[in-house]
Amino acid sequence: MRIGLSYDLKQAVAVEHTAPDDALEEYDSSETVELIAAALETTGHSVVMLGGGKEFLANILGHNVDVVFNIAEGRGRHRSREAQVPAILEMLGIPYSGSDPQCLTICLDKPLAKKLAVLAGVSTPEWQAVADRDELRLTPWSGFGFPAIVKPAYEGSSKGIRSSSVVNTPEQATEAMETLLRQYGQPVMVEEFIAGDEVTVGMVGNSPPKVLGMMRILPKTNQDYFIYSVEVKRDYQRLVDYECPARFSDQVLERLRTSSLRAFQALGCRDFARLDFRVSPEGVPYFLEVNPLPGLGRHSDLVIMAQKMGWSHQELIAAVLDAARRRYPQCVGV
Ligand SMILES: Nc1ncnc2c1ncn2[C@@H]1O[C@H](COP(=O)(O)OP(=O)(O)OP(=O)(O)O)[C@@H](O)[C@H]1O
Ligand SMILES: [Mg+2]
Repeated sequence: MRIGLSYDLKQAVAVEHTAPDDALEEYDSSETVELIAAALETTGHSVVMLGGGKEFLANILGHNVDVVFNIAEGRGRHRSREAQVPAILEMLGIPYSGSDPQCLTICLDKPLAKKLAVLAGVSTPEWQAVADRDELRLTPWSGFGFPAIVKPAYEGSSKGIRSSSVVNTPEQATEAMETLLRQYGQPVMVEEFIAGDEVTVGMVGNSPPKVLGMMRILPKTNQDYFIYSVEVKRDYQRLVDYECPARFSDQVLERLRTSSLRAFQALGCRDFARLDFRVSPEGVPYFLEVNPLPGLGRHSDLVIMAQKMGWSHQELIAAVLDAARRRYPQCVGV
């Protein structure tokens, strides 16, 4: 089989000089792309490097591939950017790994994903989202609980989320949200801060998807408001410990499992995903967001989790590919 690999390299994406310093945070390094290509080759297939953006368009039309392993984040600040490559593959009738355009678009829009999670019976912190400064001025703060955290509505990799993102009053929230609106050029949200354990859940497969692992992220030093911020993710070896399997009570683990499965299915995820929660001191998991296109580089949470559960990087990639291939009759047994 010929497997196409679609990806967006940091160095291939142009950003304006006024962009925030984390503008390229979601994009991949050559090292990650080479690692994934090597893992795919070990499954006994050949790999065609497709890249992203216009390069992807030329390559996908110029090469015959049987299936695409997709890690492309997409271009621009659009909430549907992760859907760009899958939408083209659907148009061309080419099988691909991971979730479909609709799921990817919904999940990148955190307020929308939270609404659907609530409908599926999953707890999520209270929140308010605003599209622009006019809406921000009209925000009704009465009844909204502080402390809260302010974040862009359509980002990942903790873009726009810093140790300074916690706010304690409507005035602080308004100021922080104005700054984010200006810097990230998209709606922003403010969310009740859950002062509890940070945990991420990995899922792999379909019908039914399985929990690969649950990993607690523990700050190395005690903090009033720990945030797994962009600064912490960049310097994770010095700042956090990863505990996997997470040592919660059986009851909390079961709640995490149920919430993850419900959210994965309600949002229409496929093949794999990583879901982020905070567990309140009372043991209630609060859904923050789901990543249907989680990082697969050596230092990504899902890869660290998989390794702690006894899977090699290559086995993780093979499991995602296998889940995708089983969805397409023409790829089974090839
Ligand atoms: N409501 C909240 N209460 C407490 N902490 C929060 C809350 N929302 C976000 N955080 C902190 O900020 C981190 C990043 O938030 P979130 O997962 O929403 O961002 P992201 O950019 O989508 O992350 P990813 O890198 O997983 O794509 C969380 O892992 C958590 O530490
Ligand atoms: Mg997250």
